[in-house]
Amino acid sequence: MKERKIPKETIDRLPLYLRCLNKLIDQGEENISSKNFSSRLNLNSAQVRKDLSYFGDFGKRGVGYETKKLASKIREILNLDRRWKMALVGVGNIGSALLTYSGFDRRVFEVAIAFDSNPQLIGQEINGVEVEDVSNLSGRIAEEGVKLGIIAVPASSAQQVADKLVEGGVKGVLNFAPALLDLPEYIQLAQVDITKELEQLLYYL
Ligand code: NAI
Repeated sequence: MKERKIPKETIDRLPLYLRCLNKLIDQGEENISSKNFSSRLNLNSAQVRKDLSYFGDFGKRGVGYETKKLASKIREILNLDRRWKMALVGVGNIGSALLTYSGFDRRVFEVAIAFDSNPQLIGQEINGVEVEDVSNLSGRIAEEGVKLGIIAVPASSAQQVADKLVEGGVKGVLNFAPALLDLPEYIQLAQVDITKELEQLLYYL
């Protein structure tokens, strides 16, 4: 059963815990203390204990947390314990970089299908994925059982693409286009905005 009412801030930190745990597991570490976690992640240890307390009693006094057990629990909570098919729309600079990116955990994320509207790109294969005609978008992703869509088209086409993704049955959208998308409430939207990050960064310089 899935735990409820985990604060968003905690959920947002889980991928950081997991990355840290994976590294420790690779190094053969069987346990990690909340103090060690906090120094590696730059969080305070009370915060770490509070975050992890949402998922049951994992900590053992004097020993800490079992790395493998905790990693597997976090994967389960984040739905990383299954494979997700993704569709990429727009195979330009960003899209083709994503298609060739080796950092996705392929056991979890599979770029199953890619689309573009440019006839010169349609039919090309990039990293084993054939670029298909965007006019078949909703039908093809429904057929493939795709649940995640990545939008990497110009802002002017982003809403139209998003609508087709929703029509095809996606549940989550990762949007690179600088456009405010209007999506049904049940769709989870994540926006990647490098310009915003840079502008925020400037404030602190
Ligand atoms: P690009 O121009 O290299 O690629 C866009 C691709 O989308 C092209 O292959 C084009 O044929 C295709 N396309 C256009 N309309 C389409 C449609 N209706 N359906 C399917 N494919 C369509 O652009 P780039 O540099 O890859 O950028 C992609 C998007 O990401 C843009 O919206 C850009 O503003 C944005 N961007 C976002 C950044 C971020 O931080 N999130 C950083 C840089 C760009």
